[in-house]
Amino acid sequence: MTLALHGGAPVRTAPWPAWPPPLDEAQRELVTTVLDSGQWGATQGGSMCADLAAALARRSGVEHGVTVGNATLGLFAALRGLGVGPGDEVIVPAYTFVASATAVLLAGATPVIADVDPADLHLSVPAAQAALTPRTVAIMPVHLAGSPADMDPLNALAARHGLAVIEDAAQAHGAAYRGRPVGGLGDAGVYSFQASKAMTAGEGGLVVCREEAVHDAVWSVCNLGRQRGGAWYGHPSVGWNLRLTEIQAALLLPWLDRLDQEIDRRNAFCAAVERELAAIPMPAGHDGEGASGQRPVTVVPQPPGTTRDSRHLLMLRLHVPFDRSFLLAALAAEGVPLDGGYPPLGTMAALTGAGARPESCPAAVAAAREVIWVRQSMLMDDPGNAAQIAEALAKVLTS
Ligand SMILES: Cc1ncc(COP(=O)(O)O)c(C=O)c1O
Repeated sequence: MTLALHGGAPVRTAPWPAWPPPLDEAQRELVTTVLDSGQWGATQGGSMCADLAAALARRSGVEHGVTVGNATLGLFAALRGLGVGPGDEVIVPAYTFVASATAVLLAGATPVIADVDPADLHLSVPAAQAALTPRTVAIMPVHLAGSPADMDPLNALAARHGLAVIEDAAQAHGAAYRGRPVGGLGDAGVYSFQASKAMTAGEGGLVVCREEAVHDAVWSVCNLGRQRGGAWYGHPSVGWNLRLTEIQAALLLPWLDRLDQEIDRRNAFCAAVERELAAIPMPAGHDGEGASGQRPVTVVPQPPGTTRDSRHLLMLRLHVPFDRSFLLAALAAEGVPLDGGYPPLGTMAALTGAGARPESCPAAVAAAREVIWVRQSMLMDDPGNAAQIAEALAKVLTS
């Protein structure tokens, strides 16, 4: 690795793999089957949505699944299905996509924004505990970047206080915690099939759950308040049309056959990035840290209990001061466009203006300052090219 490069030829000129990837034969065939059947909607008797829900529920270690238009609505439906509504508080982590909180607002409840663990950036158990009030009814751990949240202590906290647990697994298809698949570790789990996700139909989502009663309630929320098996114009509760289409399910079903292979590929790429980062010395002027063995860029560690990381993103922490917009622009100029990551939820005026309650979240604030991401599409590249990420970082940090 060359550390003293300044400007000159970019580290990479070839494009990174496209995401979503090109359709495979199985997807083309299944989509054509749906199109030829004339049954494109989820209420016309086709089986793709039901098959997808059953297959991904099984892979999540639970019985039930409900397909839904996207994961924001899936989180909303899970919350409503679990009885969360106005007057209730739901604890969400401060370092996540905004939809984790807006789904709570959509359900009429208050998102309480609790800090994340300073090392792994997932919902902190002590912070969640400190955020509890008599109005807390649920917690929403997020399996951030494809790494499972440390669910055992979070579930124990929820059990002690009678809280529902909704796993935001939007980024974590195929991930596992202590050998158990995510999605089935709480009362309900929610996957996203939006365009950037590990399985995608452009948009889409799925709620999985263990209990039949939760399934029926979530199904009803997504089907205009109907009762499963009940009359078409019978609406015993309030619900909405939040359904996925058969065409989307047909794009997603075959993905389950290649998901593990793709996760393996991303893990291989991430392992190679980590090895390469370990070879970058501290830039001049940071010798003190160098003496302690600290590297200028490290991979954000996985939470305890991670046995399968689906590597939706690779989060990197910088241990040297840097100008964020300069760094990202310079990396992009090197052909290595990394991502600046999330602002802390508690700093978003739209959320607090809508009633979200931020707790003190110094770890999320530090993450927003120090952490950048390698996106999933780049992680799908040949692991032999992982050195380019480290090379670009080393070049930019020493220039
Ligand atoms: C952590 C997290 N939660 C929820 C969502 C919302 O998913 P969707 O875009 O399918 O509504 C996303 C997707 O971007 C996400 O990353």
